[in-house]
Amino acid sequence: MEHLLQKIAALKAEIVSFQDADAEVFRIKYLGSKGHVKIIMGEMKNVAVENKKEAGQFLNEFKLFAESKYENLKALSNNETPDKLNDIDLTLPADILPLGSRHPISLIKNKIISIFQRLGFTVAEGPEIEDDFHNFTALNLPENHPARDMQDTFYISQNPDWLLRTHTSSVQVREMQKGNLPIRIICPGRVYRNETISARAHCFFHQVEGLYIAENVSFADLKQTLYFFVQEMFGKEVKLRFRPSYFPFTEPSAEMDISCMICEGQGCSVCKKTGWVEILGCGMVHPNVLDNCGIDSNKYTGFAFGMGIERITMLKYQIKDLRLFSENDQRFLKQFTSAV
Ligand code: DAH
Repeated sequence: MEHLLQKIAALKAEIVSFQDADAEVFRIKYLGSKGHVKIIMGEMKNVAVENKKEAGQFLNEFKLFAESKYENLKALSNNETPDKLNDIDLTLPADILPLGSRHPISLIKNKIISIFQRLGFTVAEGPEIEDDFHNFTALNLPENHPARDMQDTFYISQNPDWLLRTHTSSVQVREMQKGNLPIRIICPGRVYRNETISARAHCFFHQVEGLYIAENVSFADLKQTLYFFVQEMFGKEVKLRFRPSYFPFTEPSAEMDISCMICEGQGCSVCKKTGWVEILGCGMVHPNVLDNCGIDSNKYTGFAFGMGIERITMLKYQIKDLRLFSENDQRFLKQFTSAV
């Protein structure tokens, strides 16, 4: 259907700029038995049943348009004054402008935000160009800490203190420094890492960071929050599990897996035959991090988590190659109209 509309638009443009005043040449080219109008009318048979009515209207209007141009050319060649108004038919529908759609990453990001907003989280944002303190040092990663190597960093050559943030955990630090407690935020945003681009890795991607700090926040609160998130995002039948892990900014730390929704736990290439896929890292905010940001770690506790939006989008829409997200191929992008 769209293809047909494009063809009609192209032919209309051609007719508008038809310079040859010879009406007969025009008639043969457009209205003759082998002319464009006949040919394009023949395409009706390829149009899907549900679009036939609309396509028929467009084709009829196009035919009228070509016929009125012919009448004008005839009038011209007979030295009559052409009916100027007839030349521009104001009742014709405008050419269809293609409509854009939301990027799948934005759709899923918005869905994540709305789930956490229902639990009272608000959105906080921070800069993509960060300094070492907010991206590393404050998060209990002092200079020369080996865990800095977990994330391959792009440094800004003019000033080695500046870098492209490697995670949205830097926004945690900025919010904690403001000191407005309790804190209950999620921080969506783009992050950068010096990785070779492949189907599974990219030098930029998107994360959502979560942070809750108040008195008496416990690991049970973290589990319940993430349990709610998984059920809302992936459905009630999806299972989840926590595995002990290590992050310098949380203690204890964990990674959270969900049961693979592609093979339903049977084992496939997405879950590497384990039946589980990792979707985020989390833990209780390390007392050093609270202290570094000016929060009394004897009074307050908190949990944090960080997830990759690409990973979740790929699972939701069963997309196998991360590069599709940044190639701007409309054939890919047009398929996403709303969050599933
Ligand atoms: N910043 C981590 C990363 O980019 C993700 C993460 C893990 C964030 C644990 C957290 C957390 O807040 O508690 O790999």
